[in-house]
Amino acid sequence: MSRERAVQYSLLAFSYILLVIFMGVLSVNGEEKQKKDFYIAFLRDQPVDEQSVLQSHIDVLSTLKGSHIEGKESLVYSYSKSFNAFAAKLYEEEANELSRMQEVLSVFRNRYHKLHTTKSWDFVGLPQTARRNLKVESSIIVGVFDTGITPESESFADKGFGPPPAKWKGTCGHFANFSGCNNKLIGARYFKLDGESDPRDILSPLDMVGHGTHTSSTVAGSLVEDASLFGLARGTARGAVPSARVAMYKVCWYGSGCADMDLLAGFDAAIHDGVDLISLSIGGLTGGYVKDSISVGAFHAMKNGIVTVASAGNDGTPGSVTNHAPWIFTVAASGIDRQFRSDVLLGNGKTVSGLGVNVFDSRQKLYPLVSGSGVAKTATSIDDARYCHEQAMDGRKVMGKLIFCELRAQEWGVDSVVKGMGGVGSIIKSDEYLDVAQIFMAPATILNSSIADTTVAKYINSTRSPSAVIYKSHEVKIPAPVVASFSSRGPNPGSRNVLKPDIAAPGVDILASYTPLKSLTGLKGDTLFSKFTLMSGTSMSCPHVSGAVAYVKSFHPTWSPAMIKSAIMTTAKPMSRRLNKEAEFGYGVGQLNPSKAVSPGLVYDMDVMSYVQFLCHEQYKGSDIAALVGSKSINCSALLPGASSDALNYPTMQLSLIRSDHQKPTTAIFRRTVTNVGPPRSTYNATIRAPKGVEITVKPMSLSFSRALEKRSFEVLVKAKPSAMVISSSKPPVLSGLLIWRSSGHLVVRSPIAVYYPTDDDRIIAGLAAIN
Ligand SMILES: *[C@@H]1O[C@H](CO)[C@@H](O)[C@H](O)[C@H]1NC(C)=O
Ligand SMILES: *[C@@H]1O[C@H](CO)[C@@H](O)[C@H](O)[C@H]1NC(C)=O
Ligand SMILES: *[C@@H]1O[C@H](CO)[C@@H](O)[C@H](O)[C@H]1NC(C)=O
Ligand SMILES: *[C@@H]1O[C@H](CO)[C@@H](O)[C@H](O)[C@H]1NC(C)=O
Ligand SMILES: *[C@@H]1O[C@H](CO)[C@@H](O)[C@H](O)[C@H]1NC(C)=O
Repeated sequence: MSRERAVQYSLLAFSYILLVIFMGVLSVNGEEKQKKDFYIAFLRDQPVDEQSVLQSHIDVLSTLKGSHIEGKESLVYSYSKSFNAFAAKLYEEEANELSRMQEVLSVFRNRYHKLHTTKSWDFVGLPQTARRNLKVESSIIVGVFDTGITPESESFADKGFGPPPAKWKGTCGHFANFSGCNNKLIGARYFKLDGESDPRDILSPLDMVGHGTHTSSTVAGSLVEDASLFGLARGTARGAVPSARVAMYKVCWYGSGCADMDLLAGFDAAIHDGVDLISLSIGGLTGGYVKDSISVGAFHAMKNGIVTVASAGNDGTPGSVTNHAPWIFTVAASGIDRQFRSDVLLGNGKTVSGLGVNVFDSRQKLYPLVSGSGVAKTATSIDDARYCHEQAMDGRKVMGKLIFCELRAQEWGVDSVVKGMGGVGSIIKSDEYLDVAQIFMAPATILNSSIADTTVAKYINSTRSPSAVIYKSHEVKIPAPVVASFSSRGPNPGSRNVLKPDIAAPGVDILASYTPLKSLTGLKGDTLFSKFTLMSGTSMSCPHVSGAVAYVKSFHPTWSPAMIKSAIMTTAKPMSRRLNKEAEFGYGVGQLNPSKAVSPGLVYDMDVMSYVQFLCHEQYKGSDIAALVGSKSINCSALLPGASSDALNYPTMQLSLIRSDHQKPTTAIFRRTVTNVGPPRSTYNATIRAPKGVEITVKPMSLSFSRALEKRSFEVLVKAKPSAMVISSSKPPVLSGLLIWRSSGHLVVRSPIAVYYPTDDDRIIAGLAAIN
């Protein structure tokens, strides 16, 4: 099992969904050996009305196939509400031919994305009593793209809610086993265009996985008092904006994941329906900004004033951050100040503290304890029995005992195996992802290898009849916030000068609503069901930022997506570089601070043309950019901006050194324009913090405003000497600089400046994958 998959498996607690990820659908046709695949094509010309667009799609495919019937048959879906594109089932050659047709702007193959999988709102400083603009808040519609939703959940009860806002054009309707929408959950749809069904899922917006229910309730769940997971993490569960409305677009499925075709159908619908923001806890794919459905869909959303918030990914390694387009709000995961631990009492009177969520009270004082190797079936199976593999252990010897197991390559589910064989529980030795609480379906806990070896293993060897007991978990306080080990890190694999992830938000052990249709772990033999559960992942941190977007939008309904994003980024709480070795590549600007984001003072705004200039600067082809923008063809040579290193007005800056340039300093100029959204008359002075070996200058050093929405421009010059590299020992080596604009009224506009030195084995930036 790959590392990446294992993390998802363990973190997100929907064990089976990720085990089978179809990479394209095979459809071998008679003698033909070649396989057909789903392709998505973006076309010239704006949608006029759905009927004529549909006809034009059939016409294009009929021309391609040389037959009207075959053309019509190959069409899978027409995207015609918010952009002009279609999905079709084609041979690769046909797709290539399609991409050469005059009316076609770009073509890409459908791929499958993965999901990234109560107290957290208090922790980030948005208490239940926070100032609210309830009237506007209740008109905010959050579009969630996920695995569906549980309409019966108390988090989506509509007590006290008026009818949906007038702008809402979406639908709900009757679906299999779906009790229906209300004035809180105002929309629910599903998209499953590949026609493949999985017996564990259902063609309905109903959530069979639990993931979509969890993320939706984190953004906008109504208040539910006394929520807990079997008494753990007890408190009032609530979303950031409990008065906002939820619209679920089910585009992710048990087994297959989330198809590009379905994601685009979600965007096409949600933009048309009138959502205010889109929350998307789904992995991005490599392939640049124009051939990934999330990047393309989010661009169209941005054009329509809709912010797309997306998870950074759960790969934990340098350069693994996904969903990194500058028009996407990219969210890393950090821990909150709470951890779940269970004490283990050994027969010799010693107590050790284990990790994970064990909701079981012990019934006996002590149980016999053995190691997996001690209950091996045969002499040859001892090695496998150490890891508690089912086939390697002797069921008669496991019965009624606690088993000490080692964890190999994230083979989660040891608790299920031991329980299935009649064991009492398991003490698991592991050094992986110890910052995340695993939920166990039978008594179990995790010990790191040093403590496991020096206590449990040693004790088992030292006595003839060892015994132990695992107690129910309790909460302990820990230092925070620390970026989670699984959270995907920068540098941005798409653009050398755009810092990603943007921001960090709580994503470890988050309590939120869950589906009653699946056990907590999804493992064999699990009988635990709960209305609330703990989950970890950037899937969980993403809806926190979505909630903050909705919150800021409820105060500033007319702000552009870039303004809202800037407000949240420049007011974030700095995180400790000492506790977080990858610094900005781990946490971006730091941890979100929603209540501060309402009054940012200045914002960095951008519009569609800003991003077009950026794409030209990144050397994308005019036709590819046109597919993002819509009908207009783009002439990049007429647009190339002045000598700004990133061609954007981003709230952060990144300078990446080029390897061959190590002997001389690298210089970057960032041109920025800020818009005054604070007091009309105000002055801001610049404060700069430059790390050793890096020079940062700002011109001018002071900005004066005399009216609201006035704009002022400035230039940041960053010069990094090669010697600075020696100073940095962090991995990946990133030095942290900072520009702060401070007003006399104590407004603070903070922009991190990351300076990145690629190392020898760092091909992430050198190989810049973005440009096809
Ligand atoms: C849907 O409802 C039917 C009838 O109550 C039930 O038999 C079936 O198991 C349900 N399916 C799912 C996936 O919950
Ligand atoms: C292992 O766990 C023990 C007990 O919780 C703790 O004191 C120790 O610091 C941990 N060691 C490592 C390397 O994490
Ligand atoms: C316990 O005994 C086994 C078998 O003799 C040995 O392989 C292992 O290293 C011992 N462990 C400790 C911690 O002493
Ligand atoms: C694109 O812009 C450049 C510079 O303004 C101009 O010279 C060129 O003719 C334009 N190309 C097209 C196809 O319009
Ligand atoms: C900005 O700097 C000027 C000149 O040093 C100073 O007079 C002014 O008080 C400063 N303003 C703020 C808001 O710090």
